[in-house]
Amino acid sequence: MFPWGLKTPDNKPFLALAPMAALTHAPFRELVASYTGCDLFFTEMLNVRALVFQNPEKDPYLRQAQRDRPLVAQLVGRDPELFAQAVRRLEERFDFAGYDLNFGCARGVIQRYGWGVSLMKEPELACEIVRAVCASTKKPVSAKIRSGWKHDREALLGFARALTESGLSLLTIHPRTAQEGFKRPARWEEIRWLAEELPIPVVGNGDVFGPEEARRMHEETGCAGIMIGRAALLRPWIFRDVRSYLTGGEIPPPPPPIEAPEELARLIRELLPEEIQEKRFSLWLFWYLQNFSFGVHYFREIQKIPGLEGKLARLRELLAKESFRPYPARPYLHR
Ligand SMILES: Cc1cc2nc3c(=O)[nH]c(=O)nc-3n(C[C@H](O)[C@H](O)[C@H](O)COP(=O)(O)O)c2cc1C
Repeated sequence: MFPWGLKTPDNKPFLALAPMAALTHAPFRELVASYTGCDLFFTEMLNVRALVFQNPEKDPYLRQAQRDRPLVAQLVGRDPELFAQAVRRLEERFDFAGYDLNFGCARGVIQRYGWGVSLMKEPELACEIVRAVCASTKKPVSAKIRSGWKHDREALLGFARALTESGLSLLTIHPRTAQEGFKRPARWEEIRWLAEELPIPVVGNGDVFGPEEARRMHEETGCAGIMIGRAALLRPWIFRDVRSYLTGGEIPPPPPPIEAPEELARLIRELLPEEIQEKRFSLWLFWYLQNFSFGVHYFREIQKIPGLEGKLARLRELLAKESFRPYPARPYLHR
């Protein structure tokens, strides 16, 4: 019933790191894994056309680290045949634990191509994609959806049931509509609707910024798993803290503020090609520095310093006098 052996014996939810484009690369996943507590990892979304027509061995987004397991490849596109071909190529060359279908991304460019959340308008095509991928692998296939185009219980349940009947093993929902962005709070009751109705495990996602919200999401929705995105960018150790809190323990003290940047820079150097190292580090710092009151100013200053080593040297000075506020770890700026 639970793919990837995810069912926790004490009936607590399993914890997953959300897929985030240009952020949940192998170095970041390894950093999260090193702090323990995360049960499931996703790659950032991978374009099926690129997987089919480019050399996957050279693709930095397909790199895997050591401890980021089970690791599920998230796929985005709209042509069922390309999905099937992409999965067959990945099956030959890589060792992913399964495949996740992106039916939730609402970015402008993704919608213009008819990918991501656009497929929630085309349930038959979405189901065809699920069937095509399931026919190309024996591994579990999951999907990540949103509320859809409006908050409509019957439409949401109908879409989710159709995907499930097409062969899905697990479903994640981020309960906001395509138009909502991060403006309104996520509607957790929609997670409950799916958790109550579907025969497969449902993962709740959206606005979990700390251990207390994780507990509340599980209690209010009965979700099998909890997926955390932005708060894990701010606190890559959040899964350790949520796990400890949910099992009745104390929240451990945070690491020194410079620890995660130092470690991520080291992993980026090890696992990513040189031409994208600095950019990826800066993209993450934009989020991480929001832990601190003067984070925006720090970020502006650090961005101007060339080279990873130069950036780290200044960060060591700036973060020496900083400390973390208690949870929730909520970002105030988005990109
Ligand atoms: C910078 C960024 C990139 C994202 N990229 C993806 C992606 O590649 N695939 C996907 O399914 N969702 C993507 N998302 C959505 C997240 O997976 C998640 O659903 C959303 O952030 C809500 O969860 P949170 O409140 O825990 O952040 C992205 C979100 C952010 C902030």
